[in-house]
Amino acid sequence: PAEPTIPPNTLNFTSVSRTPMIAGDDLIVPPGYKWSALTKQGDPIGSTLGAPAFRSTAAKRFDTTGAEAELQFGDNHDGMAYFPLPYGSKSSDRGLLAINHEAARANVISGFRFVGVTATTDPATLDPAGETAMNPDVVRKQKAFHGVSVAEVYRDSAGKWQVQANSTYARKVHADTPIAIGGPARGHAAMRTGADPTGTQMRGTLGNCGSGATPWGTYLTCEEDSHKNYFATREMKADDPRFQDPRWARYSLVPGYNRDYTWHFVDKRFDLAVEPNETNRFGWIVEIDPYDPNWQPVKRTAMGRFAHENVAHLVNADKRVAFYMGDDQNFDYIYKFVTAKAMDPDNRTANRGLLDDGTLYVAKFNDDGSGTWMPLIQGQNGLTAENGFPDQASVLIWARLAADKLGATQMDRPEWLASDAGSGWVYATLSNNTGRGSATAPGGTTAAPRAAQPKNAANPRDKNLHGHIIRLRDAGGDVTATKFSWNVVLLAGTGTSDTPDPANKGTINGDAFSSPDSVMFDAWQRLWIGSDAADALKSSDWTGKGTDWSGLGGDMLLAMDTRTGQVKRFLLAPDGAEVCGAQLTPDGRALFVNIQHPGTEQPRDIPVEAMTWPDKIPVAQGGVVRSTTVVITREDGGVIGM
Ligand code: FEO
Ligand code: CA
Ligand code: CA
Ligand code: CA
Repeated sequence: PAEPTIPPNTLNFTSVSRTPMIAGDDLIVPPGYKWSALTKQGDPIGSTLGAPAFRSTAAKRFDTTGAEAELQFGDNHDGMAYFPLPYGSKSSDRGLLAINHEAARANVISGFRFVGVTATTDPATLDPAGETAMNPDVVRKQKAFHGVSVAEVYRDSAGKWQVQANSTYARKVHADTPIAIGGPARGHAAMRTGADPTGTQMRGTLGNCGSGATPWGTYLTCEEDSHKNYFATREMKADDPRFQDPRWARYSLVPGYNRDYTWHFVDKRFDLAVEPNETNRFGWIVEIDPYDPNWQPVKRTAMGRFAHENVAHLVNADKRVAFYMGDDQNFDYIYKFVTAKAMDPDNRTANRGLLDDGTLYVAKFNDDGSGTWMPLIQGQNGLTAENGFPDQASVLIWARLAADKLGATQMDRPEWLASDAGSGWVYATLSNNTGRGSATAPGGTTAAPRAAQPKNAANPRDKNLHGHIIRLRDAGGDVTATKFSWNVVLLAGTGTSDTPDPANKGTINGDAFSSPDSVMFDAWQRLWIGSDAADALKSSDWTGKGTDWSGLGGDMLLAMDTRTGQVKRFLLAPDGAEVCGAQLTPDGRALFVNIQHPGTEQPRDIPVEAMTWPDKIPVAQGGVVRSTTVVITREDGGVIGM
């Protein structure tokens, strides 16, 4: 059958526009659209799991135990995928949502009285009363609010989306869930610990940032800062030889307790002095089958270890599959993994080993618009034992150092990628990098800053405050090719020249935004762009004209018609939130979006403790702001944007 014709106007909505561009304790969508909260942090994923209803009082907000939290939606909703039910259907009325929970906010709104722990703080001085970082149940609760929720969702007879309370699919894969290790690093000496002397079975997934799905209906959750944020030690001092190991430095393992979490006081596998290999078991892509709760999730080591942002795929004519991935750090790389074998489209379980066998490549962008995928294969191009790579597992565990050796192109914080199966273009967001072209790179998200690099054609702005979007396409319509072409889609930034640095004016055809992060390509050739300006936005500059943030502000979701390049703003998030994980039902009538950490970052007019979105229950009655999946529909039930 012929493909349905795409209407000329797929951005047929009124742009969300405000002055200043901030939503307060609210979420704004265009006129004629409505939103509702579908999964909120602390709500039960399914009654079959026995999770209690959400409790929150003025005296104790997020009143939940660690055990209960393992059965509830987590915090910091990020990447997400919609899987129609039943498998193989195109159902837009019932499906499974797999939802990443990137982090657990260690602050008052999550009910954690987190005590700032620094390199000089001894655990004995931590707050001994109540919910301190030393309380084992607080650690369990923090762990439980990480990972992946799998929830069955459906559209009820009134058209409202609901979580199926008694679903047999409902579950949480969290920081203590048993997970297998697959691929070339399975069983390697660097993957073995006291609890797992074989290096084949571990507990937990962490730092679950972006995501992807395979063509055989499994979910891929991406561990971003998991290898560093959770690991610390008080036994090893700054002059310990291990901290001089360039491999640890490259993966941001540095002395001190100055981390987001203090689990190493309670769970010794996070203490670098006790289990120095446990960190090697994080920073991977993890495959989860949402349709089969009994199939154990697997870390796919063939795809390399770094700060995985998300993963997008394309299927080749010969049915081999290419997966495109970013390493989100200033001056880090874009990668591609190509399966060695073809997938079987007719037998989904026959594809269960596919991600354990293939070739990992890293991208080199030439200034003339060409590019090369360079293979990370032991024994080739200097990836030898003498250079620290005695086997393929070492190449994958230390993929960043292998890619350094090959001279890959250092990018401006590679965040998400999204693929257009029709044309073969893969869109990639480069969020920002104010260190580009400077004498010394500021830290950004990295604890061990990389040396700054000059601009180049693929990263064309010095002091790249607002980021940009590029796209690349493998040569000859063959996604296994080692050559590609690429171009810049847009430079993000202000819509005006009324900015102290004229370079901060973007090249956007339409509504202005900063710091592109999550992206999703839909069946109508639209690229949905979620912004995350908080890292770049360290002041209240956004309020005024004549600043580098003129006309910008809170984080938002935009849609770009990739046929014309036109961009329109579809959603403005609550203050301090980031917009992640957009997904459309196959019929285009429901748009799921994750609102991550509302109230926590900038810009913000209201203190986080005073925010109560999305419930809007008064604080005095236990109201609290919560990370949430929202579902957006047209008031008349029509297709979004048509
Ligand atoms: Fe979790 Fe790079 O965003
Ligand atoms: Ca991100
Ligand atoms: Ca980001
Ligand atoms: Ca964030």
